[in-house]
Amino acid sequence: MSNEQVAYTTSTAEKPLQITDIYELEKVAEKLIPSGGWGYLHGGAGDEWTMRQNTKAFNHKTIIPRILANMDKPELQTSIFGTGLRLPVIMAPVAAQGLANEEAEEGTAKGVAAAGTIMAISSYAGKSIEEIAKAGGGAPQWFQLYLSKDDGFNRYVLDQAKENGMKAVVLTADATVGGNREADIRNHFTFPLPMANLAKYGQGKGQSIADIYARALQKIAPADIEKVAAYTGLPVIVKGVQSPADAMLAIGAGAAGIYVSNHGGRQLDGGPASFDVLQPVAEAVDKRVPVIFDSGIRRGQHIFKALADGADIVAIGRPAIYGLAVGGWEGVKSVFDYFYRELEMVMQLAGTKTIEDIKNTHLVSRLKLHLDNTLN
Ligand code: FNR
Ligand code: LAC
Repeated sequence: MSNEQVAYTTSTAEKPLQITDIYELEKVAEKLIPSGGWGYLHGGAGDEWTMRQNTKAFNHKTIIPRILANMDKPELQTSIFGTGLRLPVIMAPVAAQGLANEEAEEGTAKGVAAAGTIMAISSYAGKSIEEIAKAGGGAPQWFQLYLSKDDGFNRYVLDQAKENGMKAVVLTADATVGGNREADIRNHFTFPLPMANLAKYGQGKGQSIADIYARALQKIAPADIEKVAAYTGLPVIVKGVQSPADAMLAIGAGAAGIYVSNHGGRQLDGGPASFDVLQPVAEAVDKRVPVIFDSGIRRGQHIFKALADGADIVAIGRPAIYGLAVGGWEGVKSVFDYFYRELEMVMQLAGTKTIEDIKNTHLVSRLKLHLDNTLN
């Protein structure tokens, strides 16, 4: 598959998308994005078993409806690190968004700002931090760092992050080697567009993500958390945590937040669904720092379950990129508005007025229900 077939769309909806669900939106986006770029944006690692489990795992637990809770008009607003959010859903860091639409990260920044929430900007964004911050119009943004072997790169991007008002650093620790991205291998996919921060170092365009990881990234040690926090003076959130042990190491090294994620199933195929490890990690964190959760969220009920199982907020990756592909910045906003509507409905049916009420809700394991019904 040659890269000539990797282009990007230019569609901007000019009005909100009517989204029935993310699964349908995904199908529309696939038709708009040439196969090389689609393979990269949509793909997972290996058999994509873990990627599929990420969404299926939300069915392992159930929400008990409440009919006499005597409440209405659920309130979805929340906050994190002192930043107010219209809903408990932020934009996960996603690289190379120009593969989805020529608006790229600027479109996403505008759509996320209009949705009233936070955008995390990838180290490997196509646009510069300055361009993305400008497109966000002053809306709160975080910067996601891939720690490079080249400390000059680390200082360069972190200086840009501070100069452009980033509120936190997301230190991604689960990708010091690329996952087995078979779609990219089959498509001989390399990035056709420059990555603003890497271009300065002659990297990005013309490379596969595996190339970039191999040449650029260094392994992460707990001491790196302290170094980034000291250098920036910003809260450092460690992304990719899936074990209580790593959560404790991160907090011990000064992490201001724990980000439970398996990179959307793009790294270790055969690992657990991200949702299946959330509760034990959140219990270990024990509210010492905020917990962010992502990987596999496609429904409002998925957001509800993640909050009930210990997350303070959640993040979405691919769903927002599908919105970008189909409708530009309006499409991105429409995706967050879709999740707002679905979560609001679930909160009403579950009898939970606020986000704090959700966090105090206990889900019921389907296995436990089955065993109770079978054994008694
Ligand atoms: C990602 N993700 C990611 N994570 C990160 O820390 N830095 C990055 O640059 C990227 N880039 C990236 C590109 C693409 C195309 C995808 C799909 C994902 C992972 C991302 O932040 C998040 O963890 C997952 O996307 C969440 O899963 P869902 O919502 O996509 O299922
Ligand atoms: C990916 C990297 C860029 O998942 O995080 O492709």
